[in-house]
Amino acid sequence: MGEYAKIDARDGSQLKEEPAKPAERNGNTMSKAAVIYWSGTGNTETMANAVLAGLREAGAEAELFAVDKIAPAEAAGYDKLALGCPSMGAEVLEEAEFEPFFTKLENSIAGKPVALFGSYGWGDGEWMRNWKDRCEAKDANLVTEGLIANETPDDTALAACKDLGRKLAEA
Ligand SMILES: Cc1cc2nc3c(=O)[nH]c(=O)nc-3n(C[C@H](O)[C@H](O)[C@H](O)COP(=O)(O)O)c2cc1C
Repeated sequence: MGEYAKIDARDGSQLKEEPAKPAERNGNTMSKAAVIYWSGTGNTETMANAVLAGLREAGAEAELFAVDKIAPAEAAGYDKLALGCPSMGAEVLEEAEFEPFFTKLENSIAGKPVALFGSYGWGDGEWMRNWKDRCEAKDANLVTEGLIANETPDDTALAACKDLGRKLAEA
């Protein structure tokens, strides 16, 4: 407030200086989350929509992006990230779009709440275990182990996706 005390114009009394208040973080209304996914046949996209619904139900401000619609640097600006990619190749992330995106993003996820999800076919979830290990190596704050759904997510898988969104909102 500089060298002069603030004076109340109404009665000349000295005003008490209030410290600036940090932005209210009641609930999760001020934190911004992004759900970012790649999906070839729509299964991981369906999961992404359910994760988004869970985030919003829990009061988070959240947006949905196909991975080709957001740059890694923009994604890094979000407080919380839900990342979705199916098992492709031989138990790897999709290599043309998602892997290059994540390779850049992973250097910006230390301390950030992150939720991983994706659909798979005939494997045993190895791609997700490796992806989780990668995130842990970068000190991400993973909210769960990584949620996997076999092919088209059923009602149980979709409920788990919503729950994942809620957990991310509360992280
Ligand atoms: C090129 C290709 C490679 C795949 N590789 C694997 C794999 O290594 N392990 C596995 O469990 N599923 C594999 N799948 C199956 C997909 O992960 C599965 O169909 C998934 O539901 C696709 O999700 P999406 O609909 O979001 O694209 C592969 C599918 C394709 C098309």
